[in-house]
Amino acid sequence: MPTPRKGDGRPSPTAVRAVGLRKSYGEKVVLDGIDLRIPAGSVFALLGPNGAGKTTTVKILSTLITADAGDVRVGGHDVAADPQSVRAAIGVTGQFSAVDGLITGEENMLLMADLHHLSKNEGRRVAAELLERFDLVEAAKRPASAYSGGMKRRLDLAMTLVGSPRIIFLDEPTTGLDPRSRHNMWGIIRGLVADGVTVLLTTQYLDEADELADRIAVLNDGRIAAEGTAEELKRLIPGGHIRLRFNDPAAYRSAADALREVILPRALGSAPPGGVPDDEALSLSIPSDGSQRELRSVLDRLDSAGIEADELTVHTPDLDDVFFALTGPAGVPDQPTEKTR
Ligand SMILES: Nc1ncnc2c1ncn2[C@@H]1O[C@H](COP(=O)(O)OP(=O)(O)OP(=O)(O)O)[C@@H](O)[C@H]1O
Ligand SMILES: [Mg+2]
Repeated sequence: MPTPRKGDGRPSPTAVRAVGLRKSYGEKVVLDGIDLRIPAGSVFALLGPNGAGKTTTVKILSTLITADAGDVRVGGHDVAADPQSVRAAIGVTGQFSAVDGLITGEENMLLMADLHHLSKNEGRRVAAELLERFDLVEAAKRPASAYSGGMKRRLDLAMTLVGSPRIIFLDEPTTGLDPRSRHNMWGIIRGLVADGVTVLLTTQYLDEADELADRIAVLNDGRIAAEGTAEELKRLIPGGHIRLRFNDPAAYRSAADALREVILPRALGSAPPGGVPDDEALSLSIPSDGSQRELRSVLDRLDSAGIEADELTVHTPDLDDVFFALTGPAGVPDQPTEKTR
């Protein structure tokens, strides 16, 4: 469930703003002019295939590398003119762990506290609190090299939070985590956002973006191929349909008759999974954008014919469909994907 919007109706201030961001490595254009706006206190997910430039974007926003062109402001500070202020406002958990395996989890935390110039007492207090919050108290005195991947990832994020950053960049925060650890990490991220922290995360897991993100951008070929809420992105591509199922063959035939003009013809190669109409399953599929208006029109037709479906489901394309459509070889969402659910 995406993070709820603030309820006062006022637009949130902008935490991250990038305009015309460009970056090349030699001949290779990685970012070809991208724009981003992330409202404060929201989760923004950057999706894209391997090599699309997600890590490059995170590194530019977090001042680790410089862009070739473009204006970037993070927490109100210009990354080129005032990188120190940007660094003071942000936390970064990189794609590859920043954990030092030779020292214990606790020592890693205290090292971060030192880097943030916390006093000894304050450092110990913050480290203890975060180790507790990330369920690492038992492991705190063991060398981090002995941690599992999930524990290292948690320690990594705990280290990021030592300086209480208001803007956090998480580059693939849950890659390699088991489902339970992923859900725990989602809970932690939601908790941060509930406290007003802004999160930009990159992910290969589309369900993660769907679950967490207020807005999602799909990066492909150096550009933002699409940006919006998960629902908006899903509406960009075809494949949504309403499915009606009947127990009574007579009702099924009457419905097929009443909806003759709108049901998907069987011959259509792009028909959604399930086949339409499907005589054996006594089900009908009607193309739909999932909107209330279309649903009402179908129900009105059934009502006029005095028929009631035994089961009605609305299928919208999922983010996998969006990802394949936007980042496929053609890069144009003109065909429903082959994927079956
Ligand atoms: N230091 C570098 N020197 C040269 N090329 C680089 C460098 N860093 C990244 N690249 C190239 O830039 C492109 C984007 O890389 P980046 O790491 O940003 O992709 P990504 O979207 O994070 O991919 P992944 O999903 O694999 O993490 C790739 O083609 C990569 O090879
Ligand atoms: Mg990356």
